[in-house]
Amino acid sequence: MKGVIFNVLEDMVISQCGMQTWNDILDEQVSGTGVYTASESYPDEELFGLVESVADKLEMPMADVISTFGTYMFHQLAARYPVFLNQSDNLRDFLISVGSVIHIEVQKLYDNPNLPTFSYDTIRDDQLIMRYKSPRKLCVLAEGLMRGASEYYKTPIEIDHPVCMHKGSDHCDLVVRFDHG
Ligand code: HEM
Repeated sequence: MKGVIFNVLEDMVISQCGMQTWNDILDEQVSGTGVYTASESYPDEELFGLVESVADKLEMPMADVISTFGTYMFHQLAARYPVFLNQSDNLRDFLISVGSVIHIEVQKLYDNPNLPTFSYDTIRDDQLIMRYKSPRKLCVLAEGLMRGASEYYKTPIEIDHPVCMHKGSDHCDLVVRFDHG
C-alpha cells in the first residue's frame, strides 16, 4: 500500500485522538519505522497492523475502523486531487469514473500502485452495481470511500453487499441505491 494511505491514517488518528495516541500505536508495531513517504510502497500487513491497534485503542470492530477510515480518506483524496471530482457533476457519474478514469490516472501518477478493479452494471437509473475485485479484499474500505463520496455530493445512498469475497466469492457486488424521494 502506498505511503499516502498511511499518511491519511496518521492524520485521522492525530486529528481525532491526538499525537500521543498515534505514538502509542506506533510503539506497538512489530515492523516498520512509522515514517511513510506518500509515493513509496509499504507492506499491506504494516497498514493492517496499524488499523488493528487503532481498533484496539478505540474499542471499535476492525470493519468499523476500516469503513470510517475510508470515508475520511475520501475527503482527503478529494482535497489532494480536486481535478478528479471536477470531472463529474453527480455522484453516479463520479462512482463510474473511479474504475474508468480515476484509478487509471492513479496508475500513471504512482509507480506500481495496488489498485482494485471495478466493473459496473448501469442498467437501472436508480441503482448502480459496482463489482469489486482485489487480492486485498478491502471491500469495506470501498464502502467507506463511497459513503465519503455520497457526503461530498450531498446525495444520500444505500449500499447493499449481497456478494462478498469474505464469503468465498471471487468478487464483491456493491449495490448502490439512490434515494429519489
Ligand atoms: C468512491 C471512490 C473510490 C473508491 C470506491 C476507491 C476504492 C479503492 C480501494 C478499495 C482501494 C484499496 C486497494 C484495494 O482494494 O485493492 C483504493 C486504493 C487507492 N485509491 Fe481509490 N477509490 C476511490 C476514489 C479514489 C480517488 C478519488 C483517488 C484519488 C487519487 C483514489 C486513489 C487511490 C490510491 C492512491 C490508492 C492506493 C494505491 C496503493 O496503495 O498502492 N481513489 N481505492
